[in-house]
Amino acid sequence: MGIESSCDETAVSIVERGEKNGVINEQIKSQIPLHSKYGGIVPEIASRNHYEVIDHLTFKVLEKSNLNINDIDLLSLTQGPGLIGSLLVGLCFAKGLSFSRKIPIVPVDHINAHIESVFIDNQDIQYPLIALVVSGGHTSIFYQASKFETEVLSKTRDDAVGEVLDKIAKFYNFGYPGGPIFDGIYKQGNKERFSFTFPRMSDGSNDFSFSGYKTAVLKYSREFRIRVNTQIFYDLMSSFLHSVIDYLLKKTSSAVKDFDIKSVVVAGGVSRNSLLREKFTKEFKNSNITLYLPSSQYCTDNASMIAWLGYEKYMKFPDLDLFDFSLNSYSRALFKHKKKVK
Ligand code: KG4
Ligand code: ZN
Repeated sequence: MGIESSCDETAVSIVERGEKNGVINEQIKSQIPLHSKYGGIVPEIASRNHYEVIDHLTFKVLEKSNLNINDIDLLSLTQGPGLIGSLLVGLCFAKGLSFSRKIPIVPVDHINAHIESVFIDNQDIQYPLIALVVSGGHTSIFYQASKFETEVLSKTRDDAVGEVLDKIAKFYNFGYPGGPIFDGIYKQGNKERFSFTFPRMSDGSNDFSFSGYKTAVLKYSREFRIRVNTQIFYDLMSSFLHSVIDYLLKKTSSAVKDFDIKSVVVAGGVSRNSLLREKFTKEFKNSNITLYLPSSQYCTDNASMIAWLGYEKYMKFPDLDLFDFSLNSYSRALFKHKKKVK
């Protein structure tokens, strides 16, 4: 059983691993309607809502799976990163279940679980791989020699890409989140009308930066007095989205060239974006490197990816003291900040 409560989705999933591999049932309660009117996530509202629904979702997922809590062999939960109050709800709930029912518990890293989300539907993915994780909280490129040997190649210095989409949506009073709203409308605009330049780090580092994009969109909006749902608005959003995705693609392709890899993974909420999927698919279509994108339901936060990675971690490190962990312990230590070039 996987438990996810790091941000604005409470999710509990039951998966079967071993001889048969698959998701038996997953229950997700999205908090989007609660946060939408504020234009972003309100942490206190998020933790209170996780607290209200986590036990109901657990009963429901067991019921839908025709299982009893005593049938669960392993618990896996998001240890971090995430909102502290939200993480604590999942941690206390999962530790309570583990302690009272004597079920072993595995804490997993949320970002590593996003990478793992592509393995749910593709069990023969070859390592080494390069993974781009694009979400509301993270924009990073990783090199993985194997599942638990992860090196950070690039990370954002400021906003995450999904965060910029959400902030632009807030500016235009669209509510939260922005990604799905802009996904449909870029096709109606002229991508050549506004120019955006790829950000560059003055210290020559490989990191991302997205705050310049946000500033440029807001500057154009004010300068041209752009109103929503006008042709110029569609042109601006189209130019912006094409440039941001080309930037993600350029950085990922450059990492791919630096390493001797077999697979590329793009995961996280923004990997649901149709323009991103189209451009990445085209880029790797005729190459000997295979691109993996999560199925739509596993792009945004979910507990199946947590359960999937928890099982892998338990099989790989059976001797870890799995109950005695806190929110900040060893999970993050698996991520090394080092560049390894071919
Ligand atoms: O992975 P996720 O559920 O949460 C984090 O771990 O942050 O990602 C949420 C982010 C939000 O910023 C949302 O705007 C973005 O994913 N998103 C999208 C799309 N669907 C969700 N961005 C672009 N296109 C989409 N279709
Ligand atoms: Zn996430």
